[in-house]
Amino acid sequence: MDTDFKIDIHTHILPEKWPDLKEKYGYGGWIRLEHHKPCCARMMIDNKFFREVEDNTWDPVRRIHECDQHGVGVQVLSTVPVMFNYWAKAEDAHDLSMLLNDHIASIVQEYPDRYIGLGTLPLQDTRLAVKELERCVKQLGLHGIEIGTHVNKLNLDAEELFPVFQAAEELGASVFVHPWDMMGKEDMPKYWLPWLVGMPAETSRAICSLIFGGVFERLPNLRIAFAHGGGSFPSTIGRIEHGFNVRPDLCAVDNPVNPRNYIGKFYLDSLVYDQMALDMLVKLVGEDHIVLGSDYPFPLGEHEPGKLIQSMPYSKSTRQKLLHKNALNWLGIHQNKLAKA
Ligand code: CO
Repeated sequence: MDTDFKIDIHTHILPEKWPDLKEKYGYGGWIRLEHHKPCCARMMIDNKFFREVEDNTWDPVRRIHECDQHGVGVQVLSTVPVMFNYWAKAEDAHDLSMLLNDHIASIVQEYPDRYIGLGTLPLQDTRLAVKELERCVKQLGLHGIEIGTHVNKLNLDAEELFPVFQAAEELGASVFVHPWDMMGKEDMPKYWLPWLVGMPAETSRAICSLIFGGVFERLPNLRIAFAHGGGSFPSTIGRIEHGFNVRPDLCAVDNPVNPRNYIGKFYLDSLVYDQMALDMLVKLVGEDHIVLGSDYPFPLGEHEPGKLIQSMPYSKSTRQKLLHKNALNWLGIHQNKLAKA
């Protein structure tokens, strides 16, 4: 395989259209796409503008052209986190998750050499979530799931969510944890702070919850990756470990193991935009646990996926790991199985 063959594990996709969900489910709060001009659409929450997107959000052919420009061989597809809909009635979120997962599966079936799919689950209902996870893996051929950093009032250590992680481990499904519904967003609406401050904190919240809640301890074979280089977790691991040491009465109530012991047991994507930050990640979690992730096709992503990794003075072998080999391990795909290999 070419040294700089790239697998981008962090990309988002939507269907071009879907039914009017307010009409279908009988209440508002859902995302809809307003196709106001060719090649572009507005993502709207009811009648409130959320984000402008281009057709590379839904058009698999345009995506492939852009991938070819940047040497991305394979994109791992997941939905846009505002489509998690954990706030909605469980049966409606389940219904919509099936539509989104069927859509991703259809893209993967059409272009199996270029796309790998992750599903979304109605995590507000454990039984429905496990049911949909099984369908994603066994029927749709998806490689795993993308989940949020919390589910309404639940953090990822919640007992309600454990069966989902357990099922993911049993099924060999990869889990991609993505920040959403950022903490404190009402208190800091200016300067895009929910994205710049809230998101990194969300990801740390997810990692800490899984560590302190003993989820990693109980499920050692779970293959899990976190977006945005693990958010603020890597740069605050010293503080987290120190907190564990000085206040075990607060931190070690569910798991007596030092949080640092879990370093290297999960993957972080490379989306940190900064050589020093990426090098710190490689030194902290090791060159076997960083995977290329770009957040394509959104503006806050790495516009030339893998450019930061390629700018580092790493050996060919390290670069290969970061650009694609680690992604294959996280996805549970044997190196020779990839058609492009
Ligand atoms: Co993203």
